[in-house]
Amino acid sequence: MTEPIKTEVAKTEAAKADLVNLKWNGVDIQAEKGSNLLKAALDNGIEVAHYCYHAGLSIAGVCRMCMVEQDGNPRAFPSCNATCGEGMVIRNDTPKIKAAVEATLQFHLLNHPLDCPVCDQAGECGLQDYYMKHGVYDSQMIDKKVHKPKVQDIGKNVMLDAERCILCSRCARFTEEVTHTHELGILNRGDHAEITVNEELKNDYAQNLVDICPVGALTSKDFRFKQRVWFLKDVHTTCIGCETGCSVKVSQNKNGAYRVKPVYDHDVNGHWMCDDGRNIYKHVSSPTRLSSASENINGLFVPVDELSIQSKVKGLKPKYILSTGLTVEEYAQFFSSLKGSKVEVGLYTLPNLGADFDGILKRGDKNANLRGAKAAFAAAGFDSTQEGLDKILNSLSSNDVVYVVIPEILYNEDHFNTLIKKTEKAGMKLALTPGETLSTLRTFNYLLPVPSFLEKNGNIINHQGLSRPLRAGLNYGETSKDISYYGKWVNV
Ligand code: SF4
Ligand code: SF4
Ligand code: FES
Repeated sequence: MTEPIKTEVAKTEAAKADLVNLKWNGVDIQAEKGSNLLKAALDNGIEVAHYCYHAGLSIAGVCRMCMVEQDGNPRAFPSCNATCGEGMVIRNDTPKIKAAVEATLQFHLLNHPLDCPVCDQAGECGLQDYYMKHGVYDSQMIDKKVHKPKVQDIGKNVMLDAERCILCSRCARFTEEVTHTHELGILNRGDHAEITVNEELKNDYAQNLVDICPVGALTSKDFRFKQRVWFLKDVHTTCIGCETGCSVKVSQNKNGAYRVKPVYDHDVNGHWMCDDGRNIYKHVSSPTRLSSASENINGLFVPVDELSIQSKVKGLKPKYILSTGLTVEEYAQFFSSLKGSKVEVGLYTLPNLGADFDGILKRGDKNANLRGAKAAFAAAGFDSTQEGLDKILNSLSSNDVVYVVIPEILYNEDHFNTLIKKTEKAGMKLALTPGETLSTLRTFNYLLPVPSFLEKNGNIINHQGLSRPLRAGLNYGETSKDISYYGKWVNV
C-alpha cells in the first residue's frame, strides 16, 4: 500500500480557535466553524450516505441521502445543507434515519437498470455500496421502468448512460461552477427528469465528471471495459504534464497503467486535474517503449550489452544534455558524480504550449521540474539557460560523445528535432530515454532505457516552489529504479 499524500496544512492555534464541538452518534467531534454537518462527519471519519454533496462544489441538497436527526428537533434533515453549531447533538444511526435512507435509496433505484455486471463503475459505485448496506432487496415497483438513452458519446472522452443517472446534479454544477462552460443540465420533471447535454463537452477538465459521478452514468471512453477496478492498485504520485504538479493516483497492475485520477491537494490542485494529465501514463507500458540498451546497426536498433557501449565511448569527451524531467534526487546524484570536474552540461527545456495559465490549473510550461532542474544546475555551478545549451551544441566535434536525456513526454517534436539536428557533429551520440522510442532517435548510435516517472521515487518542484513526490509503482520491463542511472554514464 502506498502512503496517502499528506496535503492538509497543519492547523495553527488560530485555526483551532475556530473549531466547534459537536456530539455525533454519541462521539465527541470537532468541526470547522461554519462548515456543513456532512463535511464535519466525513472529516471525522463518520460514515454518512451521500450522493449530491461534493466538497469542491456548491450544496444542492437533492439526493436526500445524508439525513440526520438533531436533539430537540422533531424533523430529520439533510446534513449537507446544515451548518455546524457549538454543542449540536446529531445522530444518523437511529431507526428513523435508517428507514429514511432505505426509502430514499429505493427511489434512486426505481428506474435504475441494475446492470452492475457490465457497468464500469462496479466496485467503486456509490449506488452499489449503499445498496449493499441500506438496500431493500425486493423491489416494490409494480410499474415498468422508465427507459432513457444509453451509450451516448457526449464528447471529450466521456460516455453518458442516462438510465444509470440518479440526478445528483454534480456534473451540471461542475460545468457551471468550475469550468463555466454549462454543457450539462437537467431537463423535465419527476421520473422523466434526465441529464441533458446542452452541447458537446468541450472543456479541458471534462474527465473530472467521470470522477465525480457517484454512479456509472458518466464513464471514461479511455478506461471503459479495460480493467475491473478490483484488479488495480493506486499509486499516489504527481502529474508530470505541466509545471502545476497536480497530485494524482495512477491505477495499475502487473500488465501496466490504466488511468490517472486526481488526489485532493489543498495547496496545488484541490479536487481536480486537467484532461491532458490523464494521458501521462500511456507511454509507460507502451509496446514501442525501449526495454534494453540498443545499438544502431545500419539504421536498425539491436539489443547490446551496456559494457560494450562503455568501451566504445572511452577516450571521447563527454557532453551532457539533460531534460527537465529528472527528479531533484537524480540531478543531485548526477552532479555529485561529476566530482567537481568541469565537463559541459546543458539543459533542454520544452517550449511553452498554449497560454501561460488557463485560470484553473493548466500551465503552458510543460517542464514539470523546471525549478528543481534550475536549482540543481545553479547549486553545481552549471549554466541552465538556452545560451548555455547553445554554447555546448555549437562547439560539438568528432572528439565528443554527447549524452541526451530525452524528455519523457514530448509535446512538440519539431522543437526537439531542432536540438537533435544540432548534435550531428558529435563523434558519438547516446540517447537516454524514459518514454516512447521516437523515429527521430535514428541518428543516435546507442539508445539506453531509463526509468519513467512511474518507476522511480523522488521529488519534483512545481511552479509554486512546492515539492511533490514521484512514486515508483510497478516495474515494467527492464528499466531500473536506481537513481544513479544518469550518473553511471559520467565517468565512462
Ligand atoms: S450523470 Fe452522474 S453526476 Fe450527473 S447527475 Fe447523473 S448521477 Fe449525478
Ligand atoms: S494541470 Fe498540469 S499537472 Fe495538473 S493534471 Fe493538468 S497537466 Fe497535469
Ligand atoms: S448529500 Fe445531502 S442531500 Fe445529497
